[in-house]
Amino acid sequence: MQTSLSGIQPSGLLHIGNYFGAIRQHIQLQDQAGENFYFIADYHALTSSRDPEALRNFVFETAVSYLALGLDPAKACLFRQSDVPEVTEIAWLLATVTGMGLLERAHSFKDKVAQGIKPSVGLFTYPVLMAADILAYDSTLVPVGKDQIQHVEMAQDMAGYFNGAFGDVFIRPEMMVPKAESMQKVPGLDGQKMSKSYGNTIWIFETGKPLKKIINKIVTDSRPPQEPKDPNELFLFDIMALFADQSEVDEWKEKVRLGGDGAPGYGHLKGFIRDAMEEYFAAARLRRYELIADRGEVERILKAGALKARARASEVRDRALTACGLR
Ligand code: ADP
Ligand code: TRP
Repeated sequence: MQTSLSGIQPSGLLHIGNYFGAIRQHIQLQDQAGENFYFIADYHALTSSRDPEALRNFVFETAVSYLALGLDPAKACLFRQSDVPEVTEIAWLLATVTGMGLLERAHSFKDKVAQGIKPSVGLFTYPVLMAADILAYDSTLVPVGKDQIQHVEMAQDMAGYFNGAFGDVFIRPEMMVPKAESMQKVPGLDGQKMSKSYGNTIWIFETGKPLKKIINKIVTDSRPPQEPKDPNELFLFDIMALFADQSEVDEWKEKVRLGGDGAPGYGHLKGFIRDAMEEYFAAARLRRYELIADRGEVERILKAGALKARARASEVRDRALTACGLR
Protein backbone atom coordinates (compact mmCIF):
# COMPACT_ATOMS: atom_id res chain seq x y z
CA MET A 1 0.00 0.00 0.00
CA GLN A 2 1.21 3.49 -0.83
CA THR A 3 1.87 5.93 1.99
CA SER A 4 2.75 9.37 0.74
CA LEU A 5 4.26 11.97 2.99
CA SER A 6 5.50 15.50 2.64
CA GLY A 7 6.11 18.61 4.67
CA ILE A 8 6.22 22.32 4.04
CA GLN A 9 7.87 24.97 6.14
CA PRO A 10 5.65 27.71 7.56
CA SER A 11 8.26 30.31 6.88
CA GLY A 12 6.12 32.77 4.95
CA LEU A 13 3.03 33.12 2.83
CA LEU A 14 2.81 30.37 0.22
CA HIS A 15 3.51 31.44 -3.34
CA ILE A 16 2.55 30.04 -6.71
CA GLY A 17 5.97 28.34 -7.01
CA ASN A 18 5.16 26.39 -3.84
CA TYR A 19 1.77 25.51 -5.28
CA PHE A 20 2.82 24.26 -8.70
CA GLY A 21 6.12 22.81 -7.48
CA ALA A 22 4.83 20.96 -4.42
CA ILE A 23 1.38 21.55 -2.92
CA ARG A 24 -0.58 20.60 -6.02
CA GLN A 25 1.10 17.16 -6.14
CA HIS A 26 0.35 16.63 -2.44
CA ILE A 27 -3.31 17.34 -2.93
CA GLN A 28 -3.59 15.22 -6.08
CA LEU A 29 -2.16 12.20 -4.27
CA GLN A 30 -5.01 12.11 -1.78
CA ASP A 31 -7.19 10.58 -4.48
CA GLN A 32 -4.90 7.59 -5.00
CA ALA A 33 -5.32 4.43 -2.97
CA GLY A 34 -3.31 4.48 0.23
CA GLU A 35 -2.53 6.86 3.06
CA ASN A 36 -1.33 10.43 3.01
CA PHE A 37 0.53 12.37 5.68
CA TYR A 38 1.15 16.09 5.18
CA PHE A 39 2.59 18.26 7.86
CA ILE A 40 3.63 21.79 8.62
CA ALA A 41 7.34 21.68 9.36
CA ASP A 42 7.36 24.16 12.24
CA TYR A 43 10.49 22.73 13.89
CA HIS A 44 12.31 23.23 10.62
CA ALA A 45 11.02 26.79 10.33
CA LEU A 46 12.51 27.56 13.73
CA THR A 47 15.97 27.27 12.19
CA SER A 48 15.28 30.67 10.63
CA SER A 49 12.48 32.27 12.69
CA ARG A 50 12.97 34.52 15.70
CA ASP A 51 9.46 35.96 15.68
CA PRO A 52 6.98 33.80 17.66
CA GLU A 53 3.89 35.72 16.57
CA ALA A 54 4.82 35.55 12.89
CA LEU A 55 5.60 31.83 13.14
CA ARG A 56 2.24 31.14 14.80
CA ASN A 57 0.48 33.05 12.01
CA PHE A 58 2.38 31.28 9.26
CA VAL A 59 1.54 27.87 10.74
CA PHE A 60 -2.13 28.79 10.73
CA GLU A 61 -1.94 30.28 7.23
CA THR A 62 -0.17 27.19 5.91
CA ALA A 63 -2.85 24.89 7.34
CA VAL A 64 -5.61 27.12 5.97
CA SER A 65 -3.92 27.27 2.57
CA TYR A 66 -3.71 23.50 2.20
CA LEU A 67 -7.34 23.07 3.22
CA ALA A 68 -8.51 25.90 0.98
CA LEU A 69 -6.58 24.50 -1.97
CA GLY A 70 -8.37 21.19 -1.63
CA LEU A 71 -6.68 19.03 0.96
CA ASP A 72 -9.42 16.86 2.40
CA PRO A 73 -8.80 15.83 6.03
CA ALA A 74 -10.88 12.71 5.44
CA LYS A 75 -8.39 11.55 2.81
CA ALA A 76 -5.12 13.04 4.04
CA CYS A 77 -3.79 13.48 7.51
CA LEU A 78 -2.77 17.13 8.06
CA PHE A 79 -0.79 17.97 11.18
CA ARG A 80 1.90 20.06 12.81
CA GLN A 81 5.36 18.52 12.98
CA SER A 82 5.84 19.61 16.59
CA ASP A 83 2.66 17.78 17.64
CA VAL A 84 4.52 14.51 17.03
CA PRO A 85 7.39 14.37 19.54
CA GLU A 86 8.30 10.85 18.37
CA VAL A 87 9.86 12.49 15.33
CA THR A 88 12.50 14.26 17.40
CA GLU A 89 13.23 10.98 19.19
CA ILE A 90 13.75 9.22 15.87
CA ALA A 91 15.92 12.13 14.71
CA TRP A 92 18.30 11.43 17.58
CA LEU A 93 18.51 7.75 16.70
CA LEU A 94 19.31 8.64 13.09
CA ALA A 95 21.89 11.22 14.16
CA THR A 96 23.86 8.50 15.93
CA VAL A 97 24.36 6.55 12.69
CA THR A 98 24.91 9.50 10.33
CA GLY A 99 28.36 10.78 9.46
CA MET A 100 29.13 14.49 9.65
CA GLY A 101 30.44 14.21 6.09
CA LEU A 102 26.98 13.45 4.70
CA LEU A 103 25.53 16.60 6.27
CA GLU A 104 28.51 18.69 5.23
CA ARG A 105 27.69 17.86 1.62
CA ALA A 106 24.12 19.25 1.82
CA HIS A 107 23.66 21.91 -0.88
CA SER A 108 21.08 23.88 1.04
CA PHE A 109 23.38 24.06 4.08
CA LYS A 110 26.34 25.09 1.96
CA ASP A 111 24.22 27.72 0.16
CA LYS A 112 23.08 29.26 3.44
CA VAL A 113 26.64 29.40 4.74
CA ALA A 114 27.75 30.97 1.44
CA GLN A 115 25.06 33.63 1.93
CA GLY A 116 26.80 34.55 5.16
CA ILE A 117 24.32 32.93 7.57
CA LYS A 118 26.09 31.73 10.73
CA PRO A 119 24.76 28.19 10.96
CA SER A 120 23.20 26.81 14.12
CA VAL A 121 23.52 23.13 14.99
CA GLY A 122 19.82 22.89 14.08
CA LEU A 123 20.47 24.16 10.58
CA PHE A 124 23.31 21.67 10.18
CA THR A 125 21.22 18.72 11.35
CA TYR A 126 18.13 19.87 9.41
CA PRO A 127 18.35 16.85 7.05
CA VAL A 128 18.37 14.45 10.03
CA LEU A 129 15.09 15.85 11.32
CA MET A 130 13.72 15.72 7.79
CA ALA A 131 14.79 12.07 7.49
CA ALA A 132 12.99 11.35 10.77
CA ASP A 133 9.85 13.04 9.35
CA ILE A 134 10.02 10.80 6.34
CA LEU A 135 10.85 7.54 8.11
CA ALA A 136 8.53 7.96 11.12
CA TYR A 137 5.38 7.11 9.19
CA ASP A 138 6.65 4.19 7.09
CA SER A 139 6.13 6.37 4.04
CA THR A 140 6.72 4.82 0.65
CA LEU A 141 6.48 7.96 -1.50
CA VAL A 142 7.76 11.47 -0.84
CA PRO A 143 6.50 14.12 -3.29
CA VAL A 144 8.79 17.15 -3.14
CA GLY A 145 10.01 20.06 -5.20
CA LYS A 146 13.28 19.64 -7.09
CA ASP A 147 15.35 21.48 -4.49
CA GLN A 148 14.51 18.85 -1.88
CA ILE A 149 15.84 15.87 -3.84
CA GLN A 150 19.13 15.73 -1.98
CA HIS A 151 17.40 15.84 1.39
CA VAL A 152 15.20 12.88 0.46
CA GLU A 153 18.26 11.00 -0.78
CA MET A 154 19.86 11.63 2.58
CA ALA A 155 16.78 10.18 4.30
CA GLN A 156 17.14 7.10 2.11
CA ASP A 157 20.82 6.88 3.12
CA MET A 158 20.02 7.27 6.82
CA ALA A 159 17.41 4.50 6.63
CA GLY A 160 20.15 2.35 5.13
CA TYR A 161 22.68 3.21 7.86
CA PHE A 162 20.25 2.38 10.65
CA ASN A 163 18.98 -0.78 9.01
CA GLY A 164 22.54 -1.83 8.23
CA ALA A 165 23.45 -1.53 11.89
CA PHE A 166 20.28 -2.85 13.54
CA GLY A 167 18.18 -4.78 11.03
CA ASP A 168 15.14 -3.83 8.97
CA VAL A 169 13.50 -1.02 10.91
CA PHE A 170 12.88 1.79 8.44
CA ILE A 171 11.24 1.63 5.05
CA ARG A 172 13.24 3.26 2.28
CA PRO A 173 10.79 5.53 0.40
CA GLU A 174 10.83 6.60 -3.22
CA MET A 175 10.60 10.24 -4.16
CA MET A 176 8.38 12.01 -6.64
CA VAL A 177 9.29 15.28 -8.35
CA PRO A 178 6.95 17.16 -10.74
CA LYS A 179 7.57 15.84 -14.25
CA ALA A 180 7.16 19.06 -16.18
CA GLU A 181 10.24 21.23 -16.03
CA SER A 182 8.04 24.33 -15.95
CA MET A 183 6.65 23.17 -12.59
CA GLN A 184 10.07 22.42 -11.11
CA LYS A 185 11.22 26.00 -11.35
CA VAL A 186 8.42 28.51 -11.49
CA PRO A 187 9.98 31.90 -12.27
CA GLY A 188 9.49 34.83 -9.95
CA LEU A 189 8.81 38.47 -10.81
CA ASP A 190 12.45 38.96 -11.84
CA GLY A 191 12.75 35.74 -13.87
CA GLN A 192 14.89 33.98 -11.24
CA LYS A 193 13.36 31.00 -9.44
CA MET A 194 10.43 32.24 -7.36
CA SER A 195 11.45 32.11 -3.71
CA LYS A 196 10.66 33.86 -0.45
CA SER A 197 14.36 34.52 -0.04
CA TYR A 198 14.51 36.50 -3.30
CA GLY A 199 11.46 38.68 -2.57
CA ASN A 200 10.08 37.90 -6.02
CA THR A 201 6.97 35.92 -5.10
CA ILE A 202 3.30 36.04 -5.99
CA TRP A 203 1.09 34.96 -3.08
CA ILE A 204 -1.38 32.23 -4.08
CA PHE A 205 -4.38 34.10 -2.68
CA GLU A 206 -3.54 37.57 -3.95
CA THR A 207 -6.50 39.30 -5.60
CA GLY A 208 -7.88 42.61 -6.89
CA LYS A 209 -5.66 45.68 -6.89
CA PRO A 210 -2.73 44.13 -5.01
CA LEU A 211 -2.69 41.29 -7.57
CA LYS A 212 -2.70 43.80 -10.40
CA LYS A 213 0.16 45.66 -8.77
CA ILE A 214 2.26 42.56 -8.26
CA ILE A 215 1.67 41.15 -11.76
CA ASN A 216 2.69 44.51 -13.18
CA LYS A 217 6.04 43.99 -11.48
CA ILE A 218 6.88 41.03 -13.71
CA VAL A 219 10.07 42.24 -15.35
CA THR A 220 9.89 42.93 -19.10
CA ASP A 221 11.84 45.23 -21.39
CA SER A 222 11.09 48.47 -23.19
CA ARG A 223 10.61 47.12 -26.70
CA PRO A 224 7.34 48.31 -28.30
CA PRO A 225 4.51 45.82 -29.02
CA GLN A 226 5.02 46.18 -32.77
CA GLU A 227 8.56 44.83 -32.65
CA PRO A 228 8.63 41.07 -33.41
CA LYS A 229 10.11 39.10 -30.48
CA ASP A 230 11.10 35.56 -29.66
CA PRO A 231 8.37 34.62 -27.15
CA ASN A 232 10.48 31.79 -25.75
CA GLU A 233 12.85 34.39 -24.35
CA LEU A 234 10.04 35.97 -22.33
CA PHE A 235 9.53 34.22 -18.97
CA LEU A 236 6.23 36.04 -18.66
CA PHE A 237 4.83 33.24 -20.81
CA ASP A 238 6.04 30.63 -18.34
CA ILE A 239 3.91 32.31 -15.69
CA MET A 240 0.98 32.57 -18.09
CA ALA A 241 1.22 28.85 -18.89
CA LEU A 242 0.50 27.99 -15.25
CA PHE A 243 -2.99 29.39 -15.52
CA ALA A 244 -4.01 29.29 -19.16
CA ASP A 245 -4.60 26.52 -21.70
CA GLN A 246 -1.64 25.71 -23.90
CA SER A 247 -3.59 26.71 -27.02
CA GLU A 248 -4.28 30.13 -25.58
CA VAL A 249 -0.64 30.63 -24.59
CA ASP A 250 0.45 29.56 -28.08
CA GLU A 251 -1.90 32.09 -29.67
CA TRP A 252 -0.45 34.95 -27.61
CA LYS A 253 3.07 33.76 -28.36
CA GLU A 254 2.39 33.73 -32.08
CA LYS A 255 1.13 37.32 -31.98
CA VAL A 256 4.25 38.41 -30.13
CA ARG A 257 6.47 36.54 -32.59
CA LEU A 258 4.83 38.31 -35.55
CA GLY A 259 4.76 41.79 -34.02
CA GLY A 260 3.03 44.54 -35.99
CA ASP A 261 -0.14 46.39 -35.13
CA GLY A 262 -2.03 43.30 -33.92
CA ALA A 263 0.62 42.41 -31.34
CA PRO A 264 -0.19 42.78 -27.64
CA GLY A 265 1.96 44.95 -25.39
CA TYR A 266 3.39 43.64 -22.13
CA GLY A 267 0.64 45.42 -20.18
CA HIS A 268 -1.97 43.58 -22.15
CA LEU A 269 -0.34 40.20 -21.53
CA LYS A 270 -0.04 40.96 -17.84
CA GLY A 271 -3.73 41.83 -17.69
CA PHE A 272 -4.51 38.45 -19.16
CA ILE A 273 -2.28 36.66 -16.62
CA ARG A 274 -3.93 38.56 -13.77
CA ASP A 275 -7.43 37.57 -14.87
CA ALA A 276 -6.44 33.96 -15.46
CA MET A 277 -4.82 33.67 -12.03
CA GLU A 278 -7.70 35.41 -10.32
CA GLU A 279 -10.06 32.86 -11.80
CA TYR A 280 -7.78 29.87 -11.23
CA PHE A 281 -7.72 30.37 -7.45
CA ALA A 282 -11.22 31.90 -7.06
CA ALA A 283 -12.81 28.93 -5.29
CA ALA A 284 -9.79 28.42 -3.06
CA ARG A 285 -9.85 32.09 -2.06
CA LEU A 286 -13.45 31.85 -0.95
CA ARG A 287 -12.76 28.70 1.00
CA ARG A 288 -9.82 30.43 2.68
CA TYR A 289 -12.06 33.22 3.95
CA GLU A 290 -14.43 30.66 5.45
CA LEU A 291 -11.63 28.81 7.18
CA ILE A 292 -10.06 31.97 8.56
CA ALA A 293 -13.37 32.75 10.18
CA ASP A 294 -13.39 29.31 11.84
CA ARG A 295 -10.06 28.98 13.65
CA GLY A 296 -11.52 26.31 15.92
CA GLU A 297 -12.24 24.03 12.98
CA VAL A 298 -8.69 24.39 11.63
CA GLU A 299 -7.29 23.59 15.07
CA ARG A 300 -9.54 20.52 15.34
CA ILE A 301 -8.33 19.23 11.98
CA LEU A 302 -4.69 19.65 13.02
CA LYS A 303 -5.27 17.93 16.37
CA ALA A 304 -7.08 14.99 14.76
CA GLY A 305 -4.26 14.72 12.23
CA ALA A 306 -1.66 14.73 15.00
CA LEU A 307 -3.44 11.93 16.84
CA LYS A 308 -3.34 9.70 13.80
CA ALA A 309 0.23 10.65 12.95
CA ARG A 310 1.41 9.97 16.51
CA ALA A 311 -0.13 6.53 16.53
CA ARG A 312 1.96 5.60 13.50
CA ALA A 313 5.13 7.37 14.62
CA SER A 314 5.10 5.74 18.04
CA GLU A 315 4.93 2.27 16.48
CA VAL A 316 7.93 3.09 14.32
CA ARG A 317 9.80 4.67 17.24
CA ASP A 318 9.21 1.56 19.39
CA ARG A 319 10.49 -0.64 16.60
CA ALA A 320 13.64 1.46 16.36
CA LEU A 321 14.20 1.57 20.15
CA THR A 322 13.91 -2.20 20.38
CA ALA A 323 16.16 -2.83 17.41
CA CYS A 324 19.03 -0.78 18.79
CA GLY A 325 18.80 -2.09 22.34
CA LEU A 326 17.20 0.83 24.16
CA ARG A 327 14.19 -1.38 24.94
P1 ADP B 1 11.04 29.19 -0.82
O1 ADP B 1 12.14 28.97 -1.85
O2 ADP B 1 10.09 30.24 -1.25
O3 ADP B 1 11.58 29.43 0.58
P2 ADP B 1 10.47 26.55 0.13
O4 ADP B 1 11.93 26.25 0.12
O5 ADP B 1 9.78 26.70 1.44
O6 ADP B 1 10.22 27.85 -0.77
O7 ADP B 1 9.75 25.45 -0.76
C1 ADP B 1 8.61 24.70 -0.39
C2 ADP B 1 8.32 23.74 -1.53
O8 ADP B 1 7.96 24.45 -2.72
C3 ADP B 1 9.53 22.89 -1.89
O9 ADP B 1 9.09 21.57 -2.16
C4 ADP B 1 10.08 23.55 -3.13
O10 ADP B 1 10.74 22.67 -3.99
C5 ADP B 1 8.84 24.12 -3.80
N1 ADP B 1 9.18 25.35 -4.51
C6 ADP B 1 9.63 26.50 -3.96
N2 ADP B 1 9.84 27.44 -4.90
C7 ADP B 1 9.53 26.86 -6.09
C8 ADP B 1 9.54 27.32 -7.45
N3 ADP B 1 9.89 28.55 -7.77
N4 ADP B 1 9.17 26.45 -8.42
C9 ADP B 1 8.79 25.18 -8.11
N5 ADP B 1 8.76 24.70 -6.85
C10 ADP B 1 9.12 25.51 -5.84
N1 TRP C 1 12.62 20.77 3.90
C1 TRP C 1 11.33 20.83 3.25
C2 TRP C 1 11.21 22.18 2.53
O1 TRP C 1 11.84 23.13 2.90
C3 TRP C 1 10.20 20.69 4.23
C4 TRP C 1 10.21 19.34 4.88
C5 TRP C 1 10.51 19.08 6.17
C6 TRP C 1 9.90 18.11 4.24
N2 TRP C 1 10.40 17.73 6.41
C7 TRP C 1 10.03 17.11 5.25
C8 TRP C 1 9.53 17.75 2.93
C9 TRP C 1 9.81 15.76 4.96
C10 TRP C 1 9.31 16.40 2.66
C11 TRP C 1 9.45 15.40 3.67
O2 TRP C 1 10.47 22.28 1.59
